[in-house]
Amino acid sequence: MPPVPGIWQGQVFPLSFSDCSFQYSISHLALANPAFPMYPSVFAAEVFQRQFGVVAAVGGYAPGRLEFIGNHVDYNGGLVIGATIDKGLQAAAGRRADGRVRVFSPAYGAAVEGELAGLAPLSGDAAWANYPLGVAWALQKHTGAFPAGFDLALAGDLPAGAGLSSSAALELATAVALRELFGRSIEPLALARWCRQAENEFVGMPCGLLDQGVSAFGQEDHLVLLDCRAETFQTLPLPAGARFWVFNTGAKHALLDSLYATRRRECEDALKILRQFYPQAQYLADLSFAEVERQRAALTPDQYARASHVTREIERVRQAVVALERGDLAAVGKLLVASHQSSRELFANSCPELDFIVDQLVPLPGVFGARLTGGGFGGAVMALTSPEFSIKTAAPVLDAYGRQFGHDVVVFPTRTGAGAHVLL
Ligand code: GLA
Repeated sequence: MPPVPGIWQGQVFPLSFSDCSFQYSISHLALANPAFPMYPSVFAAEVFQRQFGVVAAVGGYAPGRLEFIGNHVDYNGGLVIGATIDKGLQAAAGRRADGRVRVFSPAYGAAVEGELAGLAPLSGDAAWANYPLGVAWALQKHTGAFPAGFDLALAGDLPAGAGLSSSAALELATAVALRELFGRSIEPLALARWCRQAENEFVGMPCGLLDQGVSAFGQEDHLVLLDCRAETFQTLPLPAGARFWVFNTGAKHALLDSLYATRRRECEDALKILRQFYPQAQYLADLSFAEVERQRAALTPDQYARASHVTREIERVRQAVVALERGDLAAVGKLLVASHQSSRELFANSCPELDFIVDQLVPLPGVFGARLTGGGFGGAVMALTSPEFSIKTAAPVLDAYGRQFGHDVVVFPTRTGAGAHVLL
């Protein structure tokens, strides 16, 4: 069906990118899971040219992120440490003479097009495009209407649905490309905030600033410490000998989005009650665990558990900063494991698959610590290891996981990588 002018249409059509889809297999270990499309050999500029028949004018790149420690503390005004990884998404863009917008990604096999003037959230197969379209909406809201429409192609090697925040990468890559295309001058903090706004208000996901902030401010060989209350970012050097491994369980709770929103509401409800005792507190982050504990009787068991997780997790982030400064990876690892335990018991955002991986990994040689990374309710485990840790060390865990859950866990080592930047 041809797109109707002024109305956004999502068209799904079969694509055979046989030259660029990839899958390495080491016996039962898949480094790339077909369920999470990755197109590492394809550059967005190539995709753009193939799809739109002209050369792209500009390109942006943004990486995925690891949530190192600081789980569900961002929207509670807390401290969180993240890291940009060496996998990400590219956006290639070109202006059009008319007011239309076309957005394409081989990973979704869908082209979406409509009028710039009629930007509105889409549903169904085209819903993935709400991330780039939401960014176009937010950028115009803050910097003025674009003078023309645009074509945008997206590609990259960051798996979706793995807890590595491909959504923020999609947003930031698009934002960088559109910023260049329309000559807008936007500081990284504004870029991160407006991308978050796009996700909150256009996509409808009530996330905090972690994902967009880390993707914007990350640096190779560094972690990013984000103070979500002050919205300030600081990079921390990654101690020598630290390595990261990602174990993507592929588990995805059917109610993921609504569970995230529920946890957020539970935190807000707990804060409302605690403010009767501590009226100066604007966020849960303004309270200590001792203060929460003192008012335990006023909270429901769930509210108490959520507020305990948040306040103690922020304390763990502070301790992690100190341990990282000392280069004490063993101490950092213990904090990561304690964080996972807290997600499991107090915040209730883990799941059997994540718990299994963490439990199996922690006793292994070379593993400093492991925890779920990101929102939870499925997704991936991040392990902090020494350089000695290898796929061989991990093999028994992968075997055991396969026996327990009847499907493979997707594992890959990852390094820290550059934050969002201009391409081309
Ligand atoms: C998701 C959200 C982030 C943050 C984490 C949990 O990744 O997008 O804003 O809340 O979950 O820490």
